[in-house]
Formats: sequence, C-alpha cells, structure tokens
Amino acid sequence: MSKRGNWNSRIGFILAASGSAVGLGNIWRFPYTAGKNGGAAFLLIYLAAILVIALPVLLAEAALGRATGRNPVGAFKAIAPRGLWKGVGYLGVATGFMILSYYAVIAGWTLGYFVKAVRGEFSRLAAAGTDAATASRQAFESFGASPWLQISLLVVFLGLTVFVVSRGVSGGIERWSKLLMPMLLGLLFLLMIRSLTLDGAARGLEFYLKPDFSAIRPSVIIAAMGQAFFSLSLGMGTMITYGSYVEKGENLPASAGWIAFCDTLIAVMAGFIIFPAVFSQGMNPAEGPGLVFNILPVIFAKIPLGQLFGALFFLLLAIAALTSTISVLEVPVAYFIDERSWPRRKAAWIVGGICLVMGVPAALSQGSVGFLSELPLVKMDFLSLWDLIWGNLSLSIGALFIALFVGWVWKSGNALLEITRGSERFRLAFFWVIAIRYVAPALILVILLSKIL
Ligand code: PHE
Repeated sequence: MSKRGNWNSRIGFILAASGSAVGLGNIWRFPYTAGKNGGAAFLLIYLAAILVIALPVLLAEAALGRATGRNPVGAFKAIAPRGLWKGVGYLGVATGFMILSYYAVIAGWTLGYFVKAVRGEFSRLAAAGTDAATASRQAFESFGASPWLQISLLVVFLGLTVFVVSRGVSGGIERWSKLLMPMLLGLLFLLMIRSLTLDGAARGLEFYLKPDFSAIRPSVIIAAMGQAFFSLSLGMGTMITYGSYVEKGENLPASAGWIAFCDTLIAVMAGFIIFPAVFSQGMNPAEGPGLVFNILPVIFAKIPLGQLFGALFFLLLAIAALTSTISVLEVPVAYFIDERSWPRRKAAWIVGGICLVMGVPAALSQGSVGFLSELPLVKMDFLSLWDLIWGNLSLSIGALFIALFVGWVWKSGNALLEITRGSERFRLAFFWVIAIRYVAPALILVILLSKIL
C-alpha cells in the first residue's frame, strides 16, 4: 500500500478530492446546463440529486477504494474475482480516457482566456459600448474556430496534467489544492457581487431561483442527475482511486460531506454570477457550452481592475481544471500501475498521448471543421455529444452499478465496517444503507429509462 502512495496529511483526501470535484464542472458546465434546462427547476432537481443519490455514492466509492486499496478494476476484482463486475471498473477506465480527451479542450480555453485577459482584450469590449456582449461572442467564435490554437491549447493542458500525474500522488496533487481553492472562492464572491448589482440582474435571479415546474421533462432530470455525478467526480472510479490513498483513521462520512458542500457551494455561486449577467446583457441562457466564456469577459470589462481580476480568475480556473484533469488521468494510470505493473511515468505519458489524439475532434468541433461542429443526425457539435455520452450517461450508468455492487455484492454491512473506521459514530448509517441499496439504484434506473420509455 505504501508503495502506491498515500495522502500526506489528515485532510489530504478532502483537499485532493475537492480539487477533483471542483473544476470546470462547477463553473463552465453547471451554468450552461442549468441555462439549457430551465434554470431554477434544474437547480432544484440538481440539489436533490446531490443529497439523495450522489452523496451516498460518493461515500460508497471512497469506502470501496479505501477497503481494497486499488484502482477501480482492481477494487471490483478484489471483492468479486469472478463474474462481470470488474467490467464496471473497465467502463470507468474507458470513461476516464474519453472525459479527459474533451475536458482538456475546455481547460485549454481557460488558458487561452487567461492570455486574453493579460493582454487587456476584455477592456476593449467595453469600448464597444452597449454591445460588449456581441463583441465578446464574436471573439469567442473566432477563438473556437482557430484550429491550431485549439489544438495547441489542448496539447499544453494535457502536457501539464501528465507532468503532475507522472510525479505521483501526494507530492503532485495535494500541494496544489491547499492555497488556491480559497483564493478561487474569494474571487467568485467578488464577481457575484458585481454581477448581482448589474442593471437588470433581477431577471436573471428570477430565472435561477423561481422554478417553472412545467419545464421539468425527463431530459431535464437526466441532465441534473448527470451533472451531480460529473460535478462530484462520481461514476467512473475517481473517488475509488482517491479513496485508495486514504489512511484508515480518516473520517469518511465527514470528508464526503465537506467535499459535497464545497463543490455545491461553488456551483451555486457560479449560477449567481452567470445568470444575472446573462440577463442584464440580453444574452440567451440556453446558448450552450460557450455561455460562460461569452459572458465573463463582459463582467470583467465592467469592474475596476478588470484586467487584473480577469487574469487572476482564468488562472485560478485553469488550476481548478488541472486538479480535476489530474484526477481523471489518475484512474487509467492507477489501473496500468496496479494491474499491468507499468511504471507511473510510462502510464501517464501513454494515456496522455492517447487522450491527445482522441481530443482532436473535440478541439476542432467549435467551428474549425463544419462537419464536427454540427454532426448530422444528432445535430450537435462533437464536444457536446461526447459530454452527453461520457460526461453524463456513462457516469450515471457507472454510478448505478457502483451503488448496486456496494449495496448488494460487497454488502452494505461490510461497507459500513469500512466507513465507520475512523468515524465510529456515523449517525446516518441507516439512511445511507437505504440510499445505496434501494433509493439510488432505483432512481438512477428510472431516470435513465424515463427518456426511452
Ligand atoms: N468533477 C470535475 C469537475 O467538476 C470533473 C470530473 C468528472 C473529474 C469525472 C473526475 C471525474 O470539473
């Protein structure tokens, strides 16, 4: 176990797992997904999904990881050596490849926007006067449609990720999270104040907080549940892997609670930044993956020291994205280390290289290549399609099987033994057992089927 590495400090797991959870999922994906799915109604279902489904699964993954001390494939094998269950681990490893390949494209955007901010490009939007929003959208469109720029940013971001992961678990991952997350939180708070005081912010608040229940369709519920898994890094074994580096003395339920709290807080705050600004500028909340990159520069153009704050923000966002991409890459890497005895560096570089090749279509799908930007039949761009298949459906299916496995195969009683190591008084044990055995699997299944039926 010690050869695989452990977190250094007692709160190492909370820090690293929150670093994994908090990322583009909160600040880029949550607002645009909420915007496309009716705003307040989505928020409500999202919060419910976190509490009732995602939080129990988070605890299950962490316990499974700590008990077995393995990567996802090894963890399933350790408990059920025969049979198909290890397939859930393989699905997780595959999902890791796929998510990293397009997530790193968006992460590359944060680097590109950091450079734009440093160069003072946002303040020039203000010169466009009332039409700053249109100017910002045009700038994003030409940014997305520059093939070499998109691919270069992808290369740089994947390179950073591989570099950190190749140096190992605690040294690489833990150190980053400690100082930077509180800074990001502070900056988000500042942006929230500015956005809420813009003219016309109230309409955005209404969209975000006043639910229109008639807007709730199966696709909205699927999107909200998938967002809950994506945001908490669940369903592909990230938390199994990170759990495998946790000391036995650490209190898992308390850690899980903190991780979910921080992650949800940051997503909800992002909504309070994006929607007031979007409505005050007359933009469309349902415009898709570009939403946040269109509106944030407009906000920076409207605050004092916007150039400085803009640069700082995109830098912190890039780092938040990095602590997430690290955790995605760590899943396949831990698999190759544990199960195939590869050295860590080899695993990191090879997986990173494959993700680079697979990331190219996503990088070219924002206007560079017409076919990829509007795929026939599905009528969406390649990146959005990948995000739907891997970032939503695959994670939901993975979470379903993890819940079933922990509740029924490993058995919730054994899981509880692991959970209560370091937290002898786990008061919610009864509720957790009900959630992991019955509520979570049944809801995930019904929600996934609701679309087909
Ligand atoms: N949770 C990360 C985010 O919100 C993304 C992620 C998904 C990380 C799945 C690991 C696994 O940005």
